[in-house]
Amino acid sequence: MLPEEVKKRITKLRHEIEQHNYNYYKLNRPTISDFEFDAIMGDLIALENKFPQFSDPNSPTQRVGSDISREFQQVLHQYPMLSLSNSYSEAEVVEFVQRVEKFSGETPDYVCELKLDGTSISLIYREGELQRAVTRGDGEKGDDVTANVRTIRSVPLKLQGDYPASFEIRGEIVMPFSVFDELNRERSEQGEQLFANPRNAASGTLKMQNSSVVASRKLDAYFYYILGENLPEDGHYELLQMAAEWGFQISPHARKCKDAEAILNYLTTWDQKREGLPFATDGVVIKVNSKRVQEEIGFTAKSPRWAIAYKFKAERVATKLLSVDFQVGRTGAVTPVANLEPVQLGGTVVKRASLHNADVIEGLGLYLNDIVYVEKGGEIIPKIVGVDTSQRDVASTPVQFIRNCPECNTILVREEGEAAWYCPNEDECPPLIKGKIEHFISRKAMNVDGLGSETIDLLYQQGLVRNVADLYELKKEQLISLDRMGDKSADRILEGLRNTREIPFERVIFALGIRYVGETVAKKLAKAIKSIDLLMQADLATLTSVDEIGVKIAESIVDWFSKEQHLELIERLRGADLKLVTEIRQAEGATEKLKGLSFVISGIFQKFSRDELKADIELHGGKNVSGISAKTSYLIAGENIGPSKLEKATSLKIPIISEENYVQLTN
Ligand code: IVH
Repeated sequence: MLPEEVKKRITKLRHEIEQHNYNYYKLNRPTISDFEFDAIMGDLIALENKFPQFSDPNSPTQRVGSDISREFQQVLHQYPMLSLSNSYSEAEVVEFVQRVEKFSGETPDYVCELKLDGTSISLIYREGELQRAVTRGDGEKGDDVTANVRTIRSVPLKLQGDYPASFEIRGEIVMPFSVFDELNRERSEQGEQLFANPRNAASGTLKMQNSSVVASRKLDAYFYYILGENLPEDGHYELLQMAAEWGFQISPHARKCKDAEAILNYLTTWDQKREGLPFATDGVVIKVNSKRVQEEIGFTAKSPRWAIAYKFKAERVATKLLSVDFQVGRTGAVTPVANLEPVQLGGTVVKRASLHNADVIEGLGLYLNDIVYVEKGGEIIPKIVGVDTSQRDVASTPVQFIRNCPECNTILVREEGEAAWYCPNEDECPPLIKGKIEHFISRKAMNVDGLGSETIDLLYQQGLVRNVADLYELKKEQLISLDRMGDKSADRILEGLRNTREIPFERVIFALGIRYVGETVAKKLAKAIKSIDLLMQADLATLTSVDEIGVKIAESIVDWFSKEQHLELIERLRGADLKLVTEIRQAEGATEKLKGLSFVISGIFQKFSRDELKADIELHGGKNVSGISAKTSYLIAGENIGPSKLEKATSLKIPIISEENYVQLTN
């Protein structure tokens, strides 16, 4: 194909995909199957990979995210992101309406919207394309999370219809309950800490360094506030309807209300109806509809005078605390759980409530048999929020946090600054042993197909596995002897285990579950220290000389390899043929032209996105650093470069080069 034809084809595929996304997400009326959609997407990805000169950060392919980690840049908001003043009673809402009428001297229309419980985001669009996505941050400035936001399928990258040339739109990024439940189920299977509620999960996900993980988390977004000069309508409600035409998913269930009575009706309706919604809500936002009136009434230092949030009351009941159990998680963390006299709350019967940690028990001043107040907030497990001390029996005793592990009796430890007590007996305590094996087989580690936490439990109960090396000695007969394990499933597990021989060394290091050695650290280790034998011998000085490895991590590694049982384990894994050396893969186009040079990049570039430029630097053997120091070789300056970086580079006499200069360096 001629370049011209390729370009045409790419443009056509992008349009097609945009249209299908619109049909799917906006209209809820897909016209093709997921399979067909994936096929078109596959074609586009292949073409863009082959002809990178036609790549575009707003191509729908970019929603799959990139693997390159980056620190977030702080960006000043053009209009500060304020919060809303809260109200908890209908009387306060009526007062709000009266205040608005007094300030404005009119009786304006209002808009009631659900208050989504997620994390807020500000998007900038220019000429119908997404330019930038910034978190609320401190209200004045936030983090540039554009790469992550691009992966959210309900965020339009290109707009449709008659949109203003330039505007800002704000909304809420949420994680639907279904996605949240699934994520926590996966995390519990892998022994990872659970997210307390969809809000934390959404904001945690948005701040992740790896946008391909963000893409896999299936976030959703709803928009509720449009800002800009010369907007096409005065009414907020009307603007929202227009935004829907441009491709935004707008604040759901928004209604125009004439007066306080209509507003109160809306509140009563949604206080009940919200139970059935697919996402978390914590109230209603009431806004003056007309932008002109909004401007007249203006803002206080913290919030607009033209809007108020009405918070739904969390349902609360009193019941008796019967006892407290202590559960050891797969990471060793001990969680206290209260057993309660069963009681109805928010449509379900509650028998247990989380007490989180020792500080929470102490903070509540909890005694056994106390009458406690239980609330269901956004959290999965209800929590105890207070005690009725007036009903306390004189003979009752305070709830004591345990000192020894309830599973293996080892003395618990608590690290400075941490809330949780841990069982440190990682090689012998049953939940920890299982946790280690689950971590080893998990997707990001050895990714053993067919094996999950239930099977690990069974294998452990039967005494067939006590550590990860035991997995490689499993026989088919042993697997089949397990409950509900068929011939096919057993074959699949064995095949899954055989396949781990292809997993690269960096993931083997991660899979070992050495404390503080996460995915990124494991990558750095494998790159710098090229085999398990060298890693075993590495001392503190060698380890801390590796990029981003500090004393705490280094000590943990040295400590791990000092244990006889771990050395034995490594020998058995070697026997199972796992990759215990770093294989040098020559990436396509890789050179060493920038070897020994370190770069700071700042601003916006023409030929590359920021991530692409960083990847290109690494491809040519150079190093990316975030801050300028005397050791920096070059500052690559793009458009709108930050003034502080320019100043620092100038004062340290660091050469400042353009994107073109950079390209010459690598050619
Ligand atoms: S309007 C200047 N509308 O609530 C007012 N906010 O407490 C702009 N929120 O930071 C906000 N749903 O994260 C507005 N329909 C809605 C909302 C909403 C949720 C969040 C938002 C904001 C916070 C304010």
